[in-house]
Amino acid sequence: MSAEIIRSWLFVPGDSERKQIKGPQNPADALILDLEDSVADDRQEIAREMTREFLKSHTDRDRQRLYVRINPLDNPLSLADLIAVMPGAPDGIVLPKVYSAADVNTLAERLKVLECQHGIEEGATKICCVATETAASLTTFHTYLDNVSPRLTALTWGGEDLSAALGASTNRHPVTGEYDAPFQLARTLCLSTARAIGAQPVGVVYTDFRDNEGLRKECLYDLRSGYIGKIAIHPGQSEVINEAFTPSAEDIEFAQRVVDVFEQNPGTGTVGLDGKMLDMPHLKQARNVLAMAELAKARG
Ligand code: COA
Ligand code: MG
Repeated sequence: MSAEIIRSWLFVPGDSERKQIKGPQNPADALILDLEDSVADDRQEIAREMTREFLKSHTDRDRQRLYVRINPLDNPLSLADLIAVMPGAPDGIVLPKVYSAADVNTLAERLKVLECQHGIEEGATKICCVATETAASLTTFHTYLDNVSPRLTALTWGGEDLSAALGASTNRHPVTGEYDAPFQLARTLCLSTARAIGAQPVGVVYTDFRDNEGLRKECLYDLRSGYIGKIAIHPGQSEVINEAFTPSAEDIEFAQRVVDVFEQNPGTGTVGLDGKMLDMPHLKQARNVLAMAELAKARG
């Protein structure tokens, strides 16, 4: 797992002053200043400028990271977006509508040049990709397994743009109301690929932003599956997400006991605790829980 874990990632439209004022007051671990779908065509330039100025005036990022979602790489706007915002040294770039890991690597090369130009340490700008928004993306996950840039520290997925890409009129199953098969596949591939490369798998946005009980349930479902954190589109969602991805006192205590029992039995791959067998995956999971608890404490 990457060193940095971000629980809640709140989208803030890049051209909205009111929402940009609200962002830093929000408990989200990261803001994603958006230059893509939430910005109208005739507002692109103003959004870029506002986003750059926001980044420049918010340089203390300890509690809250600042990411920028640029336009997709096959849109010429994406390069202008990057050139405009890099003087503000964003902590990361969110890359939408990727076709394969090649897009991530292209972005990484551009970031390297712009970091050099602006005196930013090479590699400091991370990448979170929205890995399932094109039809091709469902068939190219294997490309992440060889030589993807280490800047790629998080993968998330999307069900809305994928519907359009697949020609689907809905992403829900007509009887159960759950995500339909292609979207379940997207969710599974995003998770397994992120885990395979040591990146953070980030849960999909929950679009019904007035339904925090539904959001809480979906966070717990994501957590059980292996996802960490979730994208938010409304400020009222961040706290629910933070809470769901912050281990409880009992979780922490149990994880500490698992780590302790392995430490007390050095060189042993399997131990017993409370009458149950524990092996390496349990130790790994316990360490994940403690890392998440540590992070939650640091973020407050
Ligand atoms: N970030 C920061 N502030 C936000 C916000 C966001 N994403 N969404 C809403 N707010 C602010 C509103 O401006 C309002 O504050 P104000 O009264 O000072 O203006 C307050 O929070 C309450 O907002 P509310 O009235 O409940 O919501 P809304 O109807 O104004 O907005 C959305 C609803 C969905 C349009 C809005 O939440 C939004 O723009 N979300 C992000 C969309 C996005 O980025 N999508 C792309 C990724 S899928
Ligand atoms: Mg979109």
